[in-house]
Amino acid sequence: MSLKDKCTILEFNDLGDERGKLVVIEGNESIPFEIKRVFYIYGSDNEVIRGQHANRESEFVLINVAGTSKVRIADGNEEFIVELNKPMMGVYIPKMVWKDMYDFSYDSVLLVLASTHYDGKEYIRDFDEYLREMNEKVN
Ligand code: TYD
Repeated sequence: MSLKDKCTILEFNDLGDERGKLVVIEGNESIPFEIKRVFYIYGSDNEVIRGQHANRESEFVLINVAGTSKVRIADGNEEFIVELNKPMMGVYIPKMVWKDMYDFSYDSVLLVLASTHYDGKEYIRDFDEYLREMNEKVN
């Protein structure tokens, strides 16, 4: 399966009515994992590049609940960019996928749902190390 097929773009239902919008995300239903952790990134500007890591264990869903940002998703073979620009869309990022988040609008609030509790040891922050581990997986 190609990287693009693995990193699904998710479209959440809008349960809104005349009172406003409502988006609901339930673990193992609208996203493919049980949610163990939630964090959000805001106050990053368009000069900043965040992420720059892959995770050996964690899966993520990224949603811009306000504003916009971009995610560059790569695996050493393929690379593509997703623009997160509406609260009812997200992108699923499986284990062992490299990601950079950047081009944050001044009002960007990037919500991240994660399948694990935080463990700094499962982060790969060096791209060469990432490529080495990806090669080991294939060979
Ligand atoms: P970092 O991984 O650099 O953030 P991002 O991927 O969003 O660019 O995390 C910044 C700091 O916050 C780093 O010291 C680790 C810590 N951190 C936690 O303690 N728990 C978490 O769930 C996350 C995402 C980060």
